[in-house]
Amino acid sequence: MNANDTSVSQTLQGKRVLVTGHTGFKGSWLCIWLHEMGAKVVGVALDPLTDRDNYVLSGIGQKMEADIRADIRDRQQMQEIFAKYQPEIVFHLAAQPLVRLSYEIPVETYETNVMGTINVMEAIRHTDSVRVAVMVTTDKCYENKEQKEGYVETDAMGGYDPYSSSKGACEIAISSWRRSFFNPADYGTKHHVSIASVRAGNVVGGGDWAKDRIVPDCIRALEAGQPINIRSPHSIRPWQHVLEPLSGYLLLAAKMWHEPTAYCEGWNFGPRADSTTPVWDVASLIVKHYGSGELHDVSNPNDLHEASLLTLDITKARTQLGWQPRTDIAQCCRLTADWYRRYRNEDVYRLCCHQIEEFTSFSCEPTS
Ligand SMILES: NC(=O)c1ccc[n+]([C@@H]2O[C@H](COP(=O)([O-])OP(=O)(O)OC[C@H]3O[C@@H](n4cnc5c(N)ncnc54)[C@H](O)[C@@H]3O)[C@@H](O)[C@H]2O)c1
Repeated sequence: MNANDTSVSQTLQGKRVLVTGHTGFKGSWLCIWLHEMGAKVVGVALDPLTDRDNYVLSGIGQKMEADIRADIRDRQQMQEIFAKYQPEIVFHLAAQPLVRLSYEIPVETYETNVMGTINVMEAIRHTDSVRVAVMVTTDKCYENKEQKEGYVETDAMGGYDPYSSSKGACEIAISSWRRSFFNPADYGTKHHVSIASVRAGNVVGGGDWAKDRIVPDCIRALEAGQPINIRSPHSIRPWQHVLEPLSGYLLLAAKMWHEPTAYCEGWNFGPRADSTTPVWDVASLIVKHYGSGELHDVSNPNDLHEASLLTLDITKARTQLGWQPRTDIAQCCRLTADWYRRYRNEDVYRLCCHQIEEFTSFSCEPTS
């Protein structure tokens, strides 16, 4: 069963699905995909940050059952929203997701990421309709040892900067709520919630304009006709197209729906091994597929600390879910550059749907 398979869309069709963070980069793509599958989507988030965000340009908000502005730090409001819309499936993506910003606003980062996640879990706990919850953290939740081997799901949580450590803390909170309130051993007697956490790599794709992320930085420079300054050219990251982790989240949710106690754990949804490459290579591919541009190395040894090596081991998702990455780094950057070349002149909702169709037409890498 893969995310484009009829079994996933049949499972999600007609379901009441609540997505937090739907005005953001990943959330907007997820809502488009869910909408195309026939789910009844309710979104909860803050306002989009720019009028060029994928959420705005695609108009996905107008196609949803409800498009709500609310702050996940407000526990009472979260409970009221859940009580009103009675979701069956929850995807929690809302967060302060930027490492560098987390050095500027560490307290807000923790309030949103940790307390926000707890507020969402409390709303789930007090809403009878919820059966499945997929909680999005990150590959940065692991204690980074700059090791070559990919992190596995049982590795220790940690994090150097406030963002990474807040996501490590989310993982610990999710694990605690699972053991305390959504324990698989008590499923069907004390509760009926299956809760999992998902850890993806560095996601790229159309419609992301976040500060200090490599692709938006590239596109801003390209659109301004300026050279692209690369801050950490040698940092190695597990790059993946936005549809890769989303395909994993959707597949996992469908599996959890049918077998609630079998999959309620942590899952890595990283890229193929050949997509774990330096920042410089990704920027070069974006330039190549965009059709123009020039890269400048502006690395500074005194810059803020960011992990320089981070890879994910995806054996568990491959073997237990049958999930596979579909794109290599070149396809990933080609799809991404394509979106940014076309968004000004095309219907962005259709552009996204075409990219989803193209993505799902790529065959999965054979299981090794
Ligand atoms: N983009 C990546 O490379 C990447 C990689 C791994 C994990 N993630 C995780 O995926 C999720 C989505 O990331 P993204 O890149 O789409 O981020 P984004 O910044 O584009 O979107 C964040 C969303 O969260 C919402 N939000 C933020 N604070 C909120 C609050 N207090 N109350 C309600 N909503 C709030 C925003 O309105 C927005 O809709 C995050 O949890 C992030 O940590 C992202």
